[in-house]
Amino acid sequence: MLKINNLVVSYGGIEALKGIDLEVEEGKIVTLVGANGAGKSTTLRTIMGLVKPVSGSILYDGKDLLKEKTQNLTRYGLNLVPEGRRVFADLTVLENLKIGAYCRKDTKGIKEDLEWVFSLFPILKERVWQLSGTLSGGEQQMLAVGRALMARPRLLMMDEPSLGLAPLIVKDIFRIIQEIHKQGVTILLIEQNANAALHIADVGYVMETGRITLKGSGKELLTNEEVKAAYLGHSVKKVI
Ligand SMILES: Nc1ncnc2c1ncn2[C@@H]1O[C@H](COP(=O)(O)OP(=O)(O)O)[C@@H](O)[C@H]1O
Ligand SMILES: [Mg+2]
Repeated sequence: MLKINNLVVSYGGIEALKGIDLEVEEGKIVTLVGANGAGKSTTLRTIMGLVKPVSGSILYDGKDLLKEKTQNLTRYGLNLVPEGRRVFADLTVLENLKIGAYCRKDTKGIKEDLEWVFSLFPILKERVWQLSGTLSGGEQQMLAVGRALMARPRLLMMDEPSLGLAPLIVKDIFRIIQEIHKQGVTILLIEQNANAALHIADVGYVMETGRITLKGSGKELLTNEEVKAAYLGHSVKKVI
């Protein structure tokens, strides 16, 4: 579904991605884990066309994404929940969700998906008229995910959805990611919480300073000694 080949990205001469290969097969949960600054967000931003690579290729359903405009990607079913839960603070929950469906015209489908989002996140239904800026961090993250779902994505990319959230909410978020996946959405999940991410992932990639250093099934990476030492230390709490 998504295939990245030898992708190099540089910010003002400093290479943030030093030639990465990554593949997302349809129907899978794929996770990219790694420390702060490894290049995870850069990878997602490049897929979305927000950063231009120096070289390499990104194919989505055989389409060359580097030739596509960012605003068209939603139409192809490609959606990103960016880092830092960026919701429109001055708009209500409902308005934010409707914005997620901006490129759709199927009123009936939009209504169905709104109900779907409310069933995943009942708290959003209770707060449809609330200004989004006044939601808690966890609620804003749920809204950011809900808004992306309103575009009816085929491939949903999430950049650190659990960052800065209380453990119980983190648990909720991972449960909901699995639920979304069960409904047929392919997931590319970026996480610093390697433990939780690898637990739910079919395939995991480990990234270190702009390079992919390991690839394996979620299970394999969870039991890999290097991964354990670097990312699954005793201080990491098991959340699921
Ligand atoms: N807009 C930018 N300008 C310059 N350097 C950047 C920019 N964004 C990220 N970087 C640098 O690129 C590297 C990778 O960053 P990032 O992709 O955000 O990592 P991660 O998401 O894994 O924490 C870091 O060294 C970071 O400082
Ligand atoms: Mg990041």
